[in-house]
Amino acid sequence: QVDLDEDIDYMFKVVMIGDSGVGKSQLLNRFAKNEFNMNSKSTIGVEFLTKTVVMDHKVVKAQIWDTAGQERYQAITTAYYRGAAGALVAYDISRRSSFDHVGKWLEELQIHTDKNTIIMLVGNKSDLSSSREVPTEVAKDFAQQEGLFFIETSALDSNNVESAFFSLLSQIY
Ligand code: GTP
Ligand code: MG
Repeated sequence: QVDLDEDIDYMFKVVMIGDSGVGKSQLLNRFAKNEFNMNSKSTIGVEFLTKTVVMDHKVVKAQIWDTAGQERYQAITTAYYRGAAGALVAYDISRRSSFDHVGKWLEELQIHTDKNTIIMLVGNKSDLSSSREVPTEVAKDFAQQEGLFFIETSALDSNNVESAFFSLLSQIY
């Protein structure tokens, strides 16, 4: 654990976006605290957690911002996105509509962040494979077309959660 700010080589802001209920808060909960809450409530306002990781002998501190995917909370946009070096755009592999809305979230990013922002498309809830509505290949092709990184995760069983954040952070620097 690193406590002193002077030990930090890089500090990055990352924003989490995507429809309500896709698991943004639980992905962050899993990554930052290794916890998961099945009864997670919809996020109100903006929250952030920090997590310090070591990559390639560099100490990287990520400040990860999380907000509600619900339309009615979407007045905070400008401040929320300001200075974001990376964005994690999440959808739920068992809910097609959340994937169909990814384009809308990408537009938000285009409006509020600069072109250098690294974007990771995350298909969450991979544990729900029996009710899958978004084939992996469809999402992979879409990501390739849009120039996004792509991974499927499960905040519930931890699958690929670290990989998702680590590859986003490593692409940033
Ligand atoms: P908003 O804050 O409303 O935008 O939602 P959110 O994207 O933060 O969703 P949240 O993390 O609160 O999760 C919504 C629901 O999905 C909760 O009941 C979680 O327990 C559940 N959930 C989150 N991740 C997973 C997962 O990987 N697998 C399964 N099976 N359920 C998950
Ligand atoms: Mg949330």
